[in-house]
Amino acid sequence: MNQKILIGAGVALLVGAVFFLNKGDKIPDAASVADLKPSFAVKLPDFSGQQKNGQKKFEANCMACHGKHATGTGNGPPLVHKYYEPNHHGDAAFYRAAQSGVRSHHWRFGNMPPIKTASRFDVSEIISYIRALQRANGIY
Ligand code: HEC
Repeated sequence: MNQKILIGAGVALLVGAVFFLNKGDKIPDAASVADLKPSFAVKLPDFSGQQKNGQKKFEANCMACHGKHATGTGNGPPLVHKYYEPNHHGDAAFYRAAQSGVRSHHWRFGNMPPIKTASRFDVSEIISYIRALQRANGIY
């Protein structure tokens, strides 16, 4: 009897630990992906000042999942992708995603959590960076 309880507790601990570790992996910190490479050959336009600001903010808040120049990672999809052209995902979708998170529907990476560290103004600059990347890669 005691042995069963012990085994039960051991299994519960293990499941808890795995869950905890997976959770910790979910939002990789920006420093750990600082030297991330693009996932595909993305064309870079000449960014404006605002777009460069957006790039910095994207790298701090979004790149860990959406990848270098928004080309995607194992944690999240590329935003330089047909799904996210302005007609399909307008700017409102970006503000909503950052503010409230996204329930997984297009991909199998899981849900996107709300990004509390990015203000509405930050997101506006991130959008101008993403749209410039999209245009340079034939997505508009
Ligand atoms: C923890 C990982 C993670 C981070 C950090 C993250 N995202 Fe996401 N994001 C996702 C995933 C995963 C999806 C795809 C959900 C689906 O459709 O399956 C997604 C989807 C989106 C979408 C599509 C929304 C829609 O309506 O379908 C937008 C726009 C977006 N992210 C923007 C951002 C921006 C901007 C940031 C930074 C401020 C950011 N994301 C940070 C994981 C992340």
